[in-house]
Amino acid sequence: ASRERVHDAILVWYDAHFRKLPWRRDFHNQPTTTDEKPGQRAYEVWVSEIMCQQTQVATVIPYYNAWMAKWPTIEDLAAADIEDVNKQWTGLGYYSRASRLHSGAQKVLNDFNGVLPSDPVVLEKEVPGIGRYTAGAIASQAYNVPAELVDGNVIRVLSRLRAIGGDVKSPKVIDLHWKIAKELVHQNRPGCFNQGLMELGATVCTPQNPKCGECPVQSSCRAYAEMLDNQESRQEAF
Ligand code: ADE
Repeated sequence: ASRERVHDAILVWYDAHFRKLPWRRDFHNQPTTTDEKPGQRAYEVWVSEIMCQQTQVATVIPYYNAWMAKWPTIEDLAAADIEDVNKQWTGLGYYSRASRLHSGAQKVLNDFNGVLPSDPVVLEKEVPGIGRYTAGAIASQAYNVPAELVDGNVIRVLSRLRAIGGDVKSPKVIDLHWKIAKELVHQNRPGCFNQGLMELGATVCTPQNPKCGECPVQSSCRAYAEMLDNQESRQEAF
C-alpha cells in the first residue's frame, strides 16, 4: 500500500511540476510514435543524460539544442568528425563523454542498425559509455521499459524516505538503493516515475534545507517522521 501511495504521489507531483526541458519533447514521455524514426527518442535521451551527468541542467539546455541541430540522428553523429564533436562539447567539460557518445553512435550503427536497444542489460553491456544509470534512463524514458535507475538525487530521496543510514558512497549502500529503486519503479510510467524521483531530489528534497512542506511523499517519509519525533522529545525535555 505504501508502494502504491509513493507511486501515485510522485507521478501526480511530477505531472504538475516537471520542468519543460527540450528532451522531454512531448512532455509526457509516451513511447515512440509512428511518425518517428525508431530509436529517435532513445538517441535524444542518451545525449541529454550524458550531458546532464556532470553538468547542471540549466547549462545543458543550449548545448543539447545545438547538438541536436547539428546531429539530429544517431547516423549523423556516427558520421561526424571527432574534432567537431569535441569542439561542440567545449564548455561542458569531461571530454571523454563526447568521444564515448561518438564511438557509441558508431557501434549502435554497426551492430544495432542505428537503433539503441531497449533492454537495459544489453545497453550497458554493448554500448561504450552507457553505464547502469544511463541504461535505465534510456530504457524507461524512451522505451517505457520498467527499468530502475539510481543517481545522487535518487539516493538522497530514497535514503530519506526509508531512513537508510550509512555512507551513501559505499558500494553496499548504493546497491541497497538499486534494490529499492527496482522494487519501487512504476510499471506503467517508469520514465516519468524515474524523472519524478530525480526532479524531487533536485528541487524539493535538496541536500540542505529540504522543502518538506512541498513534498508529495511527506506522509510516507521515515526521515520526516524521525525529525518530528526528535522535535517532540526535545520539547518534552524542557
Ligand atoms: N538529471 C539527469 N537527468 C534527469 C532527468 N531526466 N530528469 C531530472 N533530472 C535529471
